[in-house]
Amino acid sequence: MSKSFERYLVTSALPYANGPVHIGHLAGVYIPSDIYVRYLRLRGRDVISVCGSDEHGVPITIKARKEGVTPQDVVDRYHEMIKRSFEGLGMSFDIYSRTSSATHAKTASDFFRKLYDDGKFIERTSEQFYDTEAQTFLADRYIVGTCPRCGNERAYGDQCEKCGSTLSPDELLDPRSAVSGSVPEKRSTKHWYLPLDKYEGFLREWILDGHKEWKSNVYGQCKSWLDGGLQPRAVSRDLEWGIPVPVKGAEGKVLYVWFDAPIGYISATKDLTPDWEKYWKDEGTKMVHFIGKDNIVFHCIVFPSMLRAHGEYILPENVPANEFLNLEGEKISTSRNWAVWLHEYLEDFPGKEDVLRYVLCANAPETKDNDFTWKDFQARNNNELVAVLGNFVNRALVLTHKYFDGVVPACGELTEYDLQTLRELAAVKEPLENEIENYRFREALREAMNIARLGNKYLADTEPWKLIKSDPERVKTILNIALQITANLSVAIEPFMPFSARKIVGMLQAGPFGWERLGASDLLAAGHRIGEAALLFEKIEDDAIQRQLDKLAAAKEANAMNEAAQHVAEQKESVSFDDFQKMDIRVSTILAAEKVAKTKKLLKLTVDTGIDKREIVSGIAEHYKPEELVGRQVLVLVNLEPRELKGILSRGMILMAEDVTGRLRLLQPDEKTVAGAVVG
Ligand code: MF3
Ligand code: ZN
Repeated sequence: MSKSFERYLVTSALPYANGPVHIGHLAGVYIPSDIYVRYLRLRGRDVISVCGSDEHGVPITIKARKEGVTPQDVVDRYHEMIKRSFEGLGMSFDIYSRTSSATHAKTASDFFRKLYDDGKFIERTSEQFYDTEAQTFLADRYIVGTCPRCGNERAYGDQCEKCGSTLSPDELLDPRSAVSGSVPEKRSTKHWYLPLDKYEGFLREWILDGHKEWKSNVYGQCKSWLDGGLQPRAVSRDLEWGIPVPVKGAEGKVLYVWFDAPIGYISATKDLTPDWEKYWKDEGTKMVHFIGKDNIVFHCIVFPSMLRAHGEYILPENVPANEFLNLEGEKISTSRNWAVWLHEYLEDFPGKEDVLRYVLCANAPETKDNDFTWKDFQARNNNELVAVLGNFVNRALVLTHKYFDGVVPACGELTEYDLQTLRELAAVKEPLENEIENYRFREALREAMNIARLGNKYLADTEPWKLIKSDPERVKTILNIALQITANLSVAIEPFMPFSARKIVGMLQAGPFGWERLGASDLLAAGHRIGEAALLFEKIEDDAIQRQLDKLAAAKEANAMNEAAQHVAEQKESVSFDDFQKMDIRVSTILAAEKVAKTKKLLKLTVDTGIDKREIVSGIAEHYKPEELVGRQVLVLVNLEPRELKGILSRGMILMAEDVTGRLRLLQPDEKTVAGAVVG
């Protein structure tokens, strides 16, 4: 069936250093990969886990331009932030590297150069969009326009985020430059292409025939790419930020980010160990790429073709990709701030790293898209971690202190029920291993938690608190077994909840026990003194959840306003000059302002129109305080038919416009003038 390997090389998709990491990334890639490598290490396998920041690509330069800083500033900031937050969550990468490093520049450059020298690329000159105002070619996200599939007016040259289609710049309707907003022209430029069509046969045999065991979402995507026919792919870009194309006559050109980024796995391994070649070039290595589903084509089609073209490297053995995690029923979105950011979570819930790890694994989008809700987060913490796992461990320890002064009692004669419990305990190891080795981490976690369920049931059924007076010998056996189950839990949950596993070991003053002994009923010796019992988990109250929901509600409101503001009303029907001239608009000065009683929106203004002093009722109470208005010059349509509002005769209308957030703002003359000046 499965080949056995001498060593493992586990890679986790390199996050773009243009923003913080959120729960979608964690559930899709990082939590699964960390469970996997922690498990392999516990089993004593030779494993390295590599990751790092993906620091090239257009979104980073766009962000830098917007903020008026350099791309290096942007990646420095997010690299540190991501690295720190990963550490906070207990991610156990052996190295967290970055693609702006010198090692990487050389590795990626040499890789390109070898393919170039070996004649693996084709050179093509083509017409591409060029921004004459900014004097630059417009690669990928530098070009925006209308999506030909769904009509989204803000689709990018490489992708429409609304409908998810992969696009090329030429498909966009109405293309514009994201740099200057101008309409670009076409200019010819030379690039290097990897002729993926030539690798089709190899890929079909390797994936479609050779890796039928891959997850069906991954296999299915590969099949549909291959069935659709592969095209040569450009591996260079006209950009300033990136790794220069190491060829004469390629000034101003850099490697395409998706060419250099996966090579980052190799560079990271080089930075980790002088023995890196063993991991990359020896067939005894099992390489596994953990990625999100939007990365499948790059890791299953493009990168393997690059590795194959290079010729010295092994191919991945598996590419487990998860589906997407939604948040409260909506797609997670960085630009709309619809996300739970890891660094914020760690601040808002200190000491609860394992709770997030648990919830994201228990609810992982392994086979279909899934939803994260704060209510579910709270329920899983309170009903599973506190009530099942924490409760069991606490009872076992507290009872041992209470009845036996904190000393592990000896195990006496076993009842049939004891034996059955111990058999069930021993039976967890194999399915747990099997689930992890097959990347079914949700199921694996369920197996581990079953040990806690077993323990809870055992205590509930045997009721030692009722026997302590009448049959203390029996209670010794019961608590011995309960403590053995506790010790087993510290082993079984380690890959998933390393902080809690360590806490249990601390409380028991024994262990770590080693994965191989999982299932054994003699992890703790009779007579061993355990430490103090402390709570593993605490209840999460409604107010903590409400604060998170409020945060999301605020993000939603800001988005709604932004979208409304971007919605520019169409031009009205034309009017004649005469009609226009009928409107009498005057510069006026506000003399007084007060709220109209029993209304939320209305203010009564007294204005000097130059013609007279009059009252106008205006719906701006939610946008201005009365005292902000007095003394200001505004524009007033003075010959609007008078209207009675809340018993006040309103004679005219103050002219206003919405700002980007939808707030009404007064219009005023550029310089102060006399009240009564005619506008027109
Ligand atoms: N930065 C990419 C993303 O976040 C992933 C890059 S993975 C690598 O989607 F293989 F290219 F490194
Ligand atoms: Zn679209």
